[in-house]
Amino acid sequence: MPVSDGFGPSPAASYRGDRSVSFGFDRETPLATEAQEHVSQALRVQAATQFAKPAETRVFVVANQKGGVGKTTTTVNIAAAFASRGLRVLVVDLDPQGNASTALNIEHTEGTPGVYEAIVEGRDLDGLVRDCPDIPGLSVLPASIDLAGAEIELVSLVARETRLDKALQKHLARLENAGQRVDYVLIDCPPSLGLLTINAMVAGREVLIPIQCEYYALEGLGQLVRSIELIRAHLNPQLAISTILLTMYDARTKLSAGVAENVRKHFSETVLKTAIPRSVRISEAPSYRQTVLTYDGGSSGALSYLEAAREITECATQKKTLKEMQS
Ligand SMILES: Nc1ncnc2c1ncn2[C@@H]1O[C@H](COP(=O)(O)OP(=O)(O)OP(=O)(O)O)[C@@H](O)[C@H]1O
Ligand SMILES: [Mg+2]
Repeated sequence: MPVSDGFGPSPAASYRGDRSVSFGFDRETPLATEAQEHVSQALRVQAATQFAKPAETRVFVVANQKGGVGKTTTTVNIAAAFASRGLRVLVVDLDPQGNASTALNIEHTEGTPGVYEAIVEGRDLDGLVRDCPDIPGLSVLPASIDLAGAEIELVSLVARETRLDKALQKHLARLENAGQRVDYVLIDCPPSLGLLTINAMVAGREVLIPIQCEYYALEGLGQLVRSIELIRAHLNPQLAISTILLTMYDARTKLSAGVAENVRKHFSETVLKTAIPRSVRISEAPSYRQTVLTYDGGSSGALSYLEAAREITECATQKKTLKEMQS
């Protein structure tokens, strides 16, 4: 029997048990190599039906002040991958654009209570978190456009940098006491290093940086790393860059390979082995209010996010400072 990926039958299932797939054409061509890689990836992903639970809740901040690098796409698809393999996941949408809420099919029109009420008004997360209707085990703290004013409103509030942390810790503790421990929290940040992102970095323990495989990828990264170091020094000594994910990788271009090589040279083993390919299915999914896993579970985008998620569950938290990474 083919093993389900958690979202119904996957095209990948048809490859199972047939390692000697014949493609009917020259195996040395780039197309044949790509097809074979896709089959091998499908087999690996199908084999992992459950991911190991972490010893304690892991809180990831998905951040990069550069816009459009794949923060939201990474947040929702890694979250969906975890949930499809039996883990409990909470996504915190900390971007007034509300893109993560859209992709996870969560109501977030103006006035919908969500993260704004939690951090500005100090409301309990318990009444604000919503279950994702399409993905069991995944819940979401939505963001609406109301959050756009929060950067300014937070400035005059007491303990402005720690408000998300306090609300989140209280919520996680209540769930743990009720025997419903959350395994992973993923916080989707806006493309800036303002107070919202600072709140995320105080609440999180691990930073996941998506890096788009294009020419300007490394520009601004130094500033991001320095900001993380500052927060580590003054507000959250436990914060570490644990994971870097290469996104929108195009195997046909030398540029993508060059950027990937450069990033791996700088950040060594912090970079996941799996790179997310540029894929039309990934970009189409949000317009159907879906993740790529629910939209097309057998596509290369879905399989890559599943592999990346598995890698994350397998690497222990790496506490790396900027100095350690450069040495
Ligand atoms: N691997 C991919 N292949 C193709 N398109 C992608 C891929 N990853 C992301 N995209 C598309 O690129 C655009 C930007 O992605 P996304 O919204 O995830 O970036 P972001 O960093 O969250 O952006 P922002 O900084 O505005 O929050 C979106 O249209 C998304 O669908
Ligand atoms: Mg985004």
